[in-house]
Amino acid sequence: MNDVVVGHAGSGLTGELRLPTDKSISHRAVLLAAMAEGESFLIGVLDSTDVRATVAAVQTLGASIEIVRTDDRGIQMKVNGWGAGGPIQPAAPIDCGNSGTTARLLAGVLAGWPLDVTLVGDESLSKRPMGRIVEPLRRMGARIEVSAAGTLPMRVRGGDLSAITYRSPVASAQVKSAVLLAGVHASGTTSVTEPFVSRDHAERMLPAFGAEVTQESQTATVTGPVTLKGVQVIVPADPSSAAFVLAAATLVPGSNVLLPNVGLNPTRIGLVDVLRDMGAHITLKNLPAMGNEPVGTIVVQSVEKLSAVTVTAEMVPTLIDELPVLALVATQAEGTTRFEGVGELRVKESDRLEAVCQGLEALGAHVEAGDDWLEVQGPHELTGTMLSSGGDHRLAMTWAVAGLVASGETTIADFDAVEVSYPTFLADILALVAAGPDA
Ligand code: S3P
Repeated sequence: MNDVVVGHAGSGLTGELRLPTDKSISHRAVLLAAMAEGESFLIGVLDSTDVRATVAAVQTLGASIEIVRTDDRGIQMKVNGWGAGGPIQPAAPIDCGNSGTTARLLAGVLAGWPLDVTLVGDESLSKRPMGRIVEPLRRMGARIEVSAAGTLPMRVRGGDLSAITYRSPVASAQVKSAVLLAGVHASGTTSVTEPFVSRDHAERMLPAFGAEVTQESQTATVTGPVTLKGVQVIVPADPSSAAFVLAAATLVPGSNVLLPNVGLNPTRIGLVDVLRDMGAHITLKNLPAMGNEPVGTIVVQSVEKLSAVTVTAEMVPTLIDELPVLALVATQAEGTTRFEGVGELRVKESDRLEAVCQGLEALGAHVEAGDDWLEVQGPHELTGTMLSSGGDHRLAMTWAVAGLVASGETTIADFDAVEVSYPTFLADILALVAAGPDA
């Protein structure tokens, strides 16, 4: 419930920044290690409220976790999973907090076991659609109940599952991963086809734990039943956290920032392609992969001029969490930037389409939106104003970047929403500004 004030950046962002580790990969590493037989060693699990919800959930379900160390590379932990014995019946509902990934993926994990578990969440998560996972998991054989609105609380009574061939109406890695995690316990080959390819971290990680997985264009499969075996996982830095630095450094004159060890999975870095198309100066240098995840160093420098582009529905899943900050960048690009197929933004931690329109207009930008499209005109000078995260971490960080670009001061209410994915965001970005050449 805290407010922060961000002033116009008088100098560029410069220096090197070690970003927090990847939220999506961290959730999956903890869940797969909990499902596995034997010990897993996880290096660089993100230390944030969302991932802590997953850690606490699997502990309640019987996985044993020993935290070895916590540092600026995240949490190192040893996990002894429940393996073939399965999870244990919790005494109370499991609280998934603000985390959609925790609720949806956990439902997939629980679908294969004869327990009776209720998942609950905070006010925001309790409004988000669960029908998208309930449908396929029921078809596999799980008994699942949600509210009449299709939301949490969600009661999952699992058991013997059959493999299914599922065509998902949404491009959602949470849906795909939930079905694949259930597929680990189903007899036969479970396949998920999505309209456009979403992040594929589960598909990349499952084979290391011993599952047979295939990936071909929009279809991923897993063959079960299989007991996963504990392994070591190293988590790279999060490209979605990098996004805010890439946007700020592109927009604030005199910037030059280096970001090491960032995940460069092609299903996650659509933002880099789009920023480059707009004229941004971003270079990538590959480093050795971490497991099956490509990793590299990103260098970003400011540019004087950006041009508008069209972001198609097919590109959206590769930059879904980066759309708010990309819309902010578009206010500084020459022409009309159009975003197509962005209806999913309405069911994130907040209605991000509505919130982005309101916030950008309040800053002095010109935007227009429909049910699932957004247009941003530019370039328009931005003026500092009063904004709110609305409890949404990605909006808190987008408005902080806006504050660096806008004249005067920008006040952001409820800034502590950043705890969900990037607790040290403000200190990190202000340190890059303070290191600027004319600071
Ligand atoms: C996530 C997938 C995306 C993303 C979310 C994390 C994941 O959601 O927005 O922040 O870890 O699978 P959808 O898959 O629902 O689009």
